[in-house]
Amino acid sequence: MAKNGMQVDRWATRFGLVMAMAGNAVGLGNFLRFPGTAAPYGGAFMVPYFIALLFLGIPLMWIEWTIGRHGGGYGHGSTPGMFHRLWKHPVSKYLGVFGVLLPAMIGLYYVYIESWALGYAWKTISGEYWGHESRDQMKEIFSQYRGLENPGLFSFGLESYLFFLITFGINMFVFARGIQRGIEMVCKYAMPALLILGAILAVRVLTLPPVEGRTVSDGLAAVWVIDWSVLKNSDVWLAATGQIFFTLSLGFGMIHTYASYLSRSEDLTLNGLAATSTNELVEVVIGGTIALPAAVIFFGPSITKEIAAGGSFEIGFYSLPVIFQKLPFGQFFGTIWFVALFLAGLTSSVAMFTPLLLFLQDELGIERRRIVITLGVIIFILMQPIVLFMHKGIIWELDYWAGTFFLVLFAAIEAVVFAWIFGMDKGWKEMHAGADFQVPRIFYPIMKFVTPTYIIALLVWSSIEVWNTKIATVDQNPYLWFARGLIVVSGLVLCLGIWHAWRTRPHLFDEVEKGPEL
Ligand code: TRP
Repeated sequence: MAKNGMQVDRWATRFGLVMAMAGNAVGLGNFLRFPGTAAPYGGAFMVPYFIALLFLGIPLMWIEWTIGRHGGGYGHGSTPGMFHRLWKHPVSKYLGVFGVLLPAMIGLYYVYIESWALGYAWKTISGEYWGHESRDQMKEIFSQYRGLENPGLFSFGLESYLFFLITFGINMFVFARGIQRGIEMVCKYAMPALLILGAILAVRVLTLPPVEGRTVSDGLAAVWVIDWSVLKNSDVWLAATGQIFFTLSLGFGMIHTYASYLSRSEDLTLNGLAATSTNELVEVVIGGTIALPAAVIFFGPSITKEIAAGGSFEIGFYSLPVIFQKLPFGQFFGTIWFVALFLAGLTSSVAMFTPLLLFLQDELGIERRRIVITLGVIIFILMQPIVLFMHKGIIWELDYWAGTFFLVLFAAIEAVVFAWIFGMDKGWKEMHAGADFQVPRIFYPIMKFVTPTYIIALLVWSSIEVWNTKIATVDQNPYLWFARGLIVVSGLVLCLGIWHAWRTRPHLFDEVEKGPEL
């Protein structure tokens, strides 16, 4: 981070940057959430999905890179400072709080899910579940693994807890080593490895022999054949748009933080597009070829819908393992699947606490080493209720607010601040500084009018949903209130931190500091 003229950490190579950005985006969302979300709608899902990619995903990606690089030029690695630089209004820095809060909240539960992939990679290598060839048996094993089978007070499974500890340790290790020696280093190897593993699995599915007359083309039809009447259902629009946000890590403050390590002479338009394309390749081509088509070939279309309705994990953790057991060299392919899943998760989760780290470091001036140790302890403690009360659903409540609703709110805020307050003329110029790729002019009006309006419409719509499903029907489950409380209290503490930073260290935030010239 360029701070007071001092380079502390930065991306080493362009390849490393794109792999890290793509690694951030490519995650469990591509392999689990995508097939799970798309399956109920079939190929019709892809229509709103690509519309959202074009009008929201790609423009927002450029907007987030631009906000991040611009703020980074002033020494800000997280969105409160970045927003302050876009809009000189006392409230702007507080709007940036989401970009620190949301990724950290996701990180709290994402690491646990990622650890299941590691645990299952081990279970597959060791052949532990071999011989349990029905979905019901595999389901039971998955429940047992997480301590959900007759939980007492706690949902505790020794094996899953051990893999959680290992996964947590790996994450903290990479996190502590920083951007270049930690995140870039891991992504530089893990992402190409992931692409190769994914391609092997995709080819395996594409060359499957027919099962009970169901062929590969029947499998692919489940992802690609469009039934236009489905598009009348508003759910498919909301689901597909939400998936675009989640899979591209947009609306989280995360892209901004990675981009803050760029200097103004470095390209962002081409790099942003490269990272987005890599994510879409992994999601639509590789992710879309593995889980759903394989399930259709082996179980048939109607059971596959039922599987997908059971949530994103059913397909990855108990339907695919059933299929692997029926394939020659199934143990090999099964291991590849879970290792790929783990790598995808790891290259995302190592990012999630970085905005918080940089907020504490850049804005509050706390020493990096102290932050890493203290955060490590706090994060570990906060993860315990999520792991141990798995059966109470804290995890899903956090996912609902941080991973589904607030990101839309934050994306709406940033689109408006960027396009309407900072201004599209300045924004367009800033985006093209150092650019290797001239963005087609049509994106100017898109970013100015279509993207913000689209997100605001989405926000209104999701708010109605939230009102109907979450607020109007008050749920008295204390564990859900714990999740909500955690988000609110953490958000307030961060706001207090922002207030404190701007009050005690005003010199960091005044005009005179040299920043990029516009
Ligand atoms: N995009 C990631 C995936 O597909 C998940 C994700 C959502 C994420 N928000 C994030 C990753 C914030 C890093 C930071 O799984």
